[in-house]
Formats: sequence, structure tokens, C-alpha cells
Amino acid sequence: MVKISKRLMKVQESPTLSTSNKVNQLKSKGYDIISLTVGEPDFQTPKHISNAAIEAIKQNKTNHYVATSGILPLRQAIIDYHNLHDGVTYELNQVIVTTGAKDALYGVFQTIIDPGDEVLIPAPYWVSYTEQVELAGGVNIIIDSSLENNFKVTVEDLESKRTEKTTALILNSPNNPTGSIYSRAELETIGNWAVENDILIISDEIYYNLCYNGHEAVSVASLSEPIKNQTIVINGVSKSYAMTGWRIGYAMGNETIIKKMTQFASHSANPAAVSQYAALAALTGKQEVVDDMRRIFEKRLNHFYPLLESVPGFKMIKPQGAFYVFVNAKEAATRTGFSDVSDFSLALIEEAKVAVVSGDGFGFPDFIRISYTLDEETLTEAVNRIKSFIISKS
Ligand SMILES: Cc1ncc(COP(=O)(O)O)c(C=O)c1O
Repeated sequence: MVKISKRLMKVQESPTLSTSNKVNQLKSKGYDIISLTVGEPDFQTPKHISNAAIEAIKQNKTNHYVATSGILPLRQAIIDYHNLHDGVTYELNQVIVTTGAKDALYGVFQTIIDPGDEVLIPAPYWVSYTEQVELAGGVNIIIDSSLENNFKVTVEDLESKRTEKTTALILNSPNNPTGSIYSRAELETIGNWAVENDILIISDEIYYNLCYNGHEAVSVASLSEPIKNQTIVINGVSKSYAMTGWRIGYAMGNETIIKKMTQFASHSANPAAVSQYAALAALTGKQEVVDDMRRIFEKRLNHFYPLLESVPGFKMIKPQGAFYVFVNAKEAATRTGFSDVSDFSLALIEEAKVAVVSGDGFGFPDFIRISYTLDEETLTEAVNRIKSFIISKS
């Protein structure tokens, strides 16, 4: 009989990926489904980035093992990039390049968590945080926010859940799934509280370049030296440069934590050299490509949001960043005869032929996450399908 460890028996496939897989299966059977499930840009990786990777192969830079913490020019480029954009200074031994931001997060949790340690996670949260914390033996302490508070938590909320076991706090701004962005003042208050209480901030800033309509994301590490020292910044090239398939992320912060993460990676895995040369070109090459993509997402959001608002039974706030709208669909579900929003979202796939991700995996079961990583015409068609479905069933 096949034996699976108890640890992994508890792990479920990421709901965002499993919904995408379901959609792909239906599509391969010929169903015309509009998928608003994906968490990645629909653009191609800019040519100068792919060409740099091809060049690295031609120059035989990719044939051998590279440093576990990442190739030196890439680590330097990451430092220079954040120095320029956030005014922060890191040393080379404070940076590790990882297999996507997901792997950076996994490495941090493995490095800092002992069994029973508590990690504060504001909800809604990205689906992998809770699984990764549990895999490290930690305990998820979920702190609910609300749509009325722009899906943000306050120091009072955090303080009410703090115990002597609290080890870390995960911040994710701009946020997946809500698109909310914490202001400088809000981050300062939370940052100072974390310093006072010696709680490590794990700041997932993967959507940092994707802010719209005048909103801006601030890196919490840029707010003061003590806050920077209390923070591990997680970032990467996946979302900003349309490079999800290249799998390059990174972590920056305390050198002892980064050293341990590197030792851990030396026994598991580190990213392919060819991807690292591509990421180097992304961070050091022309940055207009980032803003070009950002502007397209902004235009889509401004087109899509009012359409979504007009859907009967949908309640939402306008996202400020990332590329998702997080919608309370409880009323829409009730109107169409479903007691659960997850059943409603399944019916959307099967009957309306529009796929969205149900909110349970993000800790908000009354919600659905809708990605707007498609062109405006398709987004309009998706809303029309959803509306017709709800109206016909009401
Ligand atoms: C909030 C958040 N963090 C991290 C990641 C992982 O990014 P990467 O593709 O670089 O592993 C994602 C991807 O969806 C995300 O949404």
C-alpha cells in the first residue's frame, strides 16, 4: 500500500491551480469557457529578457551548478533595484534567489518556525501561506478583515491575537486576492508594533509594481532601519515582468536567516541558471515594459470594475493593485438557489461557462476571486455571461 506522510495528507492542491486545471480539462473537451482564475499576466515575457537567456545558453553560462544563493550579478541587481526604488540598502549576504516567490516563502517558514510557533495571517490571504506554515509545523493565527475596512487589519486586531508564541506576521500589499494596498502610515504603525514585540514581518511584495489609479505600494522595509531589520522582504520577477514560468523570486533581510535559508536550499533546490540570467536582464534592462503592462491592467480594471458592479447580488470595493477583484457573491448565490458560494462558482463554470476561484481557499467562503488578466472584450463577455446566468436563475 502506498504510504503518504501525515504531514502531507493534510495538504490540498492549491485551489487556484486546481480550478485552472479543471477549466483546462473542460476546454480540452471543446467547452468555450472564459477563465478568470489565473494568477499571472497574459503577456509574453519581453523579448530582451528571453534573448538574454538565449545568450546565456550560447555563452555556456548555464552548464554548471551556480551558487545556491543565486548568481552574484543577479543578487547585486536585486540590491541595486531596491536601493533605487525603495532607498533600502542590503548586502550580498542578505539576499537569496529562489524558485519563485513561493519558494522564498517556503524557505523562510522552514527557517524560522518551530512546532507550535504562531504566525499571524490577515485574511483574506494567499492560498499557500497557511499550507506552508503548517508544513513547517507552525500554527496559523488568522486575523479577519472586512470589505468595509478595505480588507485591512490594524495593530489592535494584531495585538488581540498576539501571544508569547507569535513568531511572525505575513503582510501582502498589494494583496492577492483583494488588491488592497496598505498606506505608508498604516505600515509604519504595524512595523513599529512588530519591532516593539519582536515579531518578524514577512512582507510579500510580489505585486509591488502593479498599482493603479494613482495608488502606490510602499515597501515596509523602507520605513525605518529597525523595521527593515525586523522584515524579510519577498519579491520576484514573476508578476512584474510576465515571467511566471521562469520561476525566479527572492528574499532579502537578516543575514542569519538568509544564510540558513541558503543552507536549507543547498539540500533541496535552487533556481536554474538560465532563468537567473533572464531575471538579471529584467531587473537591469528597460523598465518601461513594467509600466506598459501596468497601464494595460489599469485600463482593464477601469473598464471591468463598473461592469462587475452592475451584476445583481455582487458586492465589492475597487482594488488598488494586483489583478484581481474580490467579490462578495453570497447574495448572488442565494438568488440563484445556492446556499454555498463555492457551489455557485462551480455552477458558473458549468452553466455560465465562466470560471472564477471560490473564496474558501483565501479564508473568505462568501467571496469569489475574479482575475482580469484578459482583454477587455473577453472581460465584457464574461460579465454578460455571469449576468445572464444570475438573471435566468433568479
Ligand atoms: C501573493 C503571492 N505571493 C507569492 C506568489 C508566488 O509567486 P511566484 O510565481 O514568484 O512563485 C503569488 C503567486 O500567485 C502570489 O499571488
